[in-house]
Amino acid sequence: MTNILNIDGIDPVELATVSYTVENGIAWVSFNRPDKRNCMSPRLNRQMMRVLDALEFREDVGVLVLSGEGTAWSAGMDLKEYFRETEAQGLRGTRGAQRESYGWWRRLRWYQKPTIAMVNGWCFGGGYGPLFACDLAFAADEAQFGLSEINWGILPGGGAAKVATELTSFRNAMYHAMMGENVDGKTAAQWGFVNEALPLDQLSARVNEVAHVLLKKNPIALKATKDAIRRVREMSYDNAEDYLIRAQEAANSFDNDGRKEGIKQFIDDKTYKPGLGAYDRSKTSA
Ligand code: ACO
Repeated sequence: MTNILNIDGIDPVELATVSYTVENGIAWVSFNRPDKRNCMSPRLNRQMMRVLDALEFREDVGVLVLSGEGTAWSAGMDLKEYFRETEAQGLRGTRGAQRESYGWWRRLRWYQKPTIAMVNGWCFGGGYGPLFACDLAFAADEAQFGLSEINWGILPGGGAAKVATELTSFRNAMYHAMMGENVDGKTAAQWGFVNEALPLDQLSARVNEVAHVLLKKNPIALKATKDAIRRVREMSYDNAEDYLIRAQEAANSFDNDGRKEGIKQFIDDKTYKPGLGAYDRSKTSA
């Protein structure tokens, strides 16, 4: 059953910009403005953050899939509502809209649960933000990816230029950004924009299969792994080696109850004061 996250006092049109369903451990979240090819308006950006927020720590959600209703994944930023109308409000409007969109993309990049972009159709410009934010990505052969910014007279901002150079070669990125030509799902897979491309009618079954593999993995290890892969890309070998040792140790001790014991001995038992010394570790294994 498809859901809309209802929140008192929020315009129903805004609430309906994102739909989702939770089934067998998977949250299937969709951009839900099919008549506008799922372009991202300030309202959609606000609602997406709310939906991500609502799903992130739910016990019955182990993997999040981001897809689009209708023929588009996302036609990028809403040129009318995101650009023209916010620019009309001056710098305050522009910066506010940027915060809202970049905010949920960032949230998605570091999401607690594994995330999969299921690119069913058009994916333009600003859509590259959430595309990169998802840990894995699968596209329909029929999908079309484009940095169309150059076609209407801006540079690929909002992270789009960065995403292109992160995911594909310098020459591919440069051609893609300067020429404003689209590539289909198959080329997107060759270029590294997505993990795989396959016919649209097989797309959700494949994503479902991948999600079920992820659901069987240790969730703490998955979160540590996805963060590690993102972090080490920008580190020297030595820094990465050190980071990974610390991350491994942190993950290993994630469930350790030493910290809770420390609080308990101070607040409840009143047997020590953290300002004056350490708690009694013999009372716990941690
Ligand atoms: N911003 C605002 N409105 C949009 C956007 C967008 N990015 N994309 C589509 N729409 C609207 C159209 O204006 C149209 O509205 P209307 O029904 O009120 O006239 C409706 O969505 C349907 O769009 P069509 O163009 O009729 O759909 P079609 O399937 O023929 O074409 C396509 C789809 C190719 C995606 C086309 O809509 C398009 O080129 N959209 C713009 C893509 C783009 O360049 N996005 C910006 C990238 S740059 C950035 O994100 C910073």
